[in-house]
This record gives sequence, structure tokens and C-alpha cells, in this order.
Amino acid sequence: MKETQKKRGKAKKSTAVVASPNNAIVKRSASIPARQEKGKFSEEKGVYCVRNIALAESGRELIAWAESRMPVLMSLRKEMRKTKPLKGIRIAGCLHVTKETAVLIRAFQDAGAIVSWSGCNPLSTNDAVSAALAEDGISIYAWYGCSVPDFYWSIERTLDMKPHLTLDDGCDLINTVHEKYADLVGEYIFGGTEETTTGVHRLRSRAAQGKLLYPVYAVNDAETKWDFDNVYGTGQSTLDGIIRATSVMLAGKNFVVAGYGHCGSGVAKRAAGMGASVIATEIKPTAALKATLEGHRVMTMDEAASVGDIFCTATGVKDIIRKRHFEAMKDGAIVCNTGHYDAEININELAALAKSRRTIRPNCEEFVLKGGKRIYLLAEGRLVNLAAAEGHPSEVMDMSFANQFMAHLRLVQAKKQGITLPNEVLDLPVEQDQFIATVKLKSMGLNLDELTPDQLAYINDYSHGT
Ligand SMILES: NC(=O)c1ccc[n+]([C@@H]2O[C@H](COP(=O)([O-])OP(=O)(O)OC[C@H]3O[C@@H](n4cnc5c(N)ncnc54)[C@H](O)[C@@H]3O)[C@@H](O)[C@H]2O)c1
Repeated sequence: MKETQKKRGKAKKSTAVVASPNNAIVKRSASIPARQEKGKFSEEKGVYCVRNIALAESGRELIAWAESRMPVLMSLRKEMRKTKPLKGIRIAGCLHVTKETAVLIRAFQDAGAIVSWSGCNPLSTNDAVSAALAEDGISIYAWYGCSVPDFYWSIERTLDMKPHLTLDDGCDLINTVHEKYADLVGEYIFGGTEETTTGVHRLRSRAAQGKLLYPVYAVNDAETKWDFDNVYGTGQSTLDGIIRATSVMLAGKNFVVAGYGHCGSGVAKRAAGMGASVIATEIKPTAALKATLEGHRVMTMDEAASVGDIFCTATGVKDIIRKRHFEAMKDGAIVCNTGHYDAEININELAALAKSRRTIRPNCEEFVLKGGKRIYLLAEGRLVNLAAAEGHPSEVMDMSFANQFMAHLRLVQAKKQGITLPNEVLDLPVEQDQFIATVKLKSMGLNLDELTPDQLAYINDYSHGT
């Protein structure tokens, strides 16, 4: 731990490494509107803006904790530190600033990249981690509770260094590039990655209209990401967020999960494990069927509204819970979201029904409706696992971020080899999943059987029968 700090302390002095590409662009910043929020910030113009740089030390402790639980990414990082395959490459990232993200950023740095970063949600930045990264020489613009204009201001600041690659979670960075900084594409930007389901949907619709300007790997869709991070990571951390924000007992509650996909099924599994009775709402027949066979009740939201005690949306779709649902809910119902955007719960309609609204504890707002009924909204309808807790455990982010890291290596390798990737949403190869899973299993001390040559011949021989 001490060693890491010492090394990182040195990195602080090398801020110039980051500042030099920034300096060239600070001119460009001069014409850009200023940050909207006033108040106290720690800021070095053209380099970083965080809430409080004095939190850096505690941020380093958190990062060290994550590093000790991310063996796959750490082994890649160690290997790439020697060969520096990303030397001279500038990466702009827009992804929740958590301790695990810091490990990914350090991996990029160790591989030779110059990195700039912003959060991908106004309520998901860990201020201590953000401070540690700023002090270690990362160009970072991220603080918890930023306003929406400052959220986009921060994204734009990460583009000041004219990146070669973008790393996104929810497509806000890529959209900003396409809408305001398209001139960077080609001359500088040649590829990107996307971390989450909603971002991949946005990209596919952009690509379908022929409007995607550069190739983007759908990191979300890798098996070692989607089937683990979204299921087990979101499952555990969403319950963590709900419990931190409310401290309610889950046993005996009717827990309504909207969307029984990767995230929703993970949340359902964990809620059921804590003794809640799960109700799933769905639009997709096979997903609803799966929920039933896994022991949950399936209803429409109209049916579930009056039955549920706790509601959690996980669809990536807007207006899942709205006026008529709030009107049907029990007194004391708790409502939250774990989908990417805060669009799943129609908060304006809830506010319009309410005669009063107040925060009763961190991340828990009470709305008293006109008839006196109380409804509790968590984390302003933003992803409750990151806003009210710490996001996914490091162990699962290990695989997601190994995928991110390898996807960026892949983009750079293709560029160096003169391979032109199409301006499409690209899947990562299955070999990458198997590699990551193998290293992960090894780190857990688990062994696999291997096919014998005879077994291999058997499965490839079409003539075998009864
Ligand atoms: N909280 C987090 O940390 C976190 C992590 C990963 C993904 N996400 C986000 O969570 C959301 C879901 O991701 P996923 O990977 O589970 O997607 P998914 O496609 O696997 O699942 C979404 C499910 O919602 C269902 N659905 C769509 N519209 C619905 C409606 N009107 N009513 C009920 N169900 C509906 C779909 O049929 C699907 O089964 C996305 O916004 C994603 O970006 C959040």
C-alpha cells in the first residue's frame, strides 16, 4: 500500500505529462462556458476539477482496496507496464468515478496512455477517488452531485486533450463528440468502447441510421461483462443502495422488479435471497416466463402497483412507473431505479401529485400525496446502487474492466497494423471472454477439466448414435 502511494506520489509531480497535451488545448477551453456551479471546488484550470483535493489520501486507500480484488486487470496491467502498448495514446473516459474505475485508469496509464476523465452520472462520483486521481496526475472533472450543465461541461473538458479513443458508459461522451466535436473524429479519434446496455442501444440506433462516425466495441455485450457485472454486480449493489438509503428489512416485503433482464434478474435473485417475495413486470414473453419458472410472480405494473412495498426499475426504458401507479401504491411504498438513466420513474408526475416533498435521510425523499399517503423516492431516481452505495463490487468489475482494457488494446493494435475497422458497433471476440474467465478462475484457485483427444474426436464425429 505504502509503495503504491509512493509511486503515485511521484506521479503527482509528473502532472506535466498530462498537462502538456492539455496545454495545447486550453486555448480551446477559453471560449467554452464556465462551470455553472459556484461554491468550493479544488480546481486547476485545464487539468482537473474535483470537490476537495484534500480527500486524495482516503481515495488512495479505497483504490488500493479495489486493486487487491481485481486480479485479472492487475495482471494485464503488470504485463503492459513493461511493453507500454498504449504509449502516446490519449483516452477520454466518461464512466462512474469509483475505486474500480481508478484501477482501470491506472492500468491505462501504466500501459503508456494519457487519460482524461469525467463521471457518467451526476450522482455516481466518489469524491475521494476523484481527488486521488487528480492528485496523481489524471485530468479529471468529476464530483458527486454535479448539475446537469456541469455534467456536460465536464465531458467537454475531457475532449480538450483531443483524444484518440473514447470510453463511454451510457453514450453521453460519444453523443457529445458526434454533436459538438465531430471535427476531432478522423484526425484524432479513431475508436471507442461502450460499457452499458443503454449506451449500446443508443449506438446501435445511431449506427443503423449510418450516423456512427467511428468503430465502437460493445464491451457490455461480452459474456464476461453482461452475464456477470449486470447480474451479480447490479444484483448485490442495488440491494446495498436500497438498504443504505432506507435500512428497511427486505424479508416479508413484496419487491417489484421492473424488467427481468440481466440487471433485473440479478436484483430479483438477491431480493428473494433476503426473504422478499419478488414480483417481476416484463414486456418480453420469454423473460416473463423465466421469472415465473425461477419462482417469482409476474404481473403488469398496473397490477403490481397496489401490491408492492419496494419497487425497483431495471429496464432502460422511460416512464415505467408513473402517475396512475403512484396513485395505486400503498402508504410507505419505496421506489427506486437501477437502470442507466433517471427516466424510468416519472418524478415530475410524482411531484405533481404531492403536497409536500422533503429529504428525510441521505438519498431518501418523502413525497406526501394530497390524500396523506407517503411515497419514498431513492437517489432522485438515478441508479441507486451508485448514488446510495458504492456500485458493483471490485471482484466483478475486474472482468468488466479487463474487457475495457483489452478492447482499447485491440483498437490500438488494429490502428498500428493499418486495419480499418468499420464504423459500426463491434462485438468483442469470444476468445477474449474465455481468456478473462480463465485468468479469473485461476486467481480463485479453481481448475478446469480438459477434453481428451478422444472426447474431441467424439463430439466432432457426426456418425455417432445410440
Ligand atoms: N445500475 C447499474 O450499475 C447498471 C449496470 C448495468 C446496466 N445498467 C442499466 O440497467 C438497464 C438494464 O440493463 P440490462 O443489461 O438488464 O438490460 P436487458 O436488456 O438485459 O434487460 C432489460 C429488460 O427490461 C425489459 N423491459 C423493457 N421495457 C420494459 C417495460 N416497459 N416494462 C417491463 N420490462 C421492460 C426487457 O424486456 C428486458 O428483459 C440499462 O439501462 C443498463 O444500462 C445499470
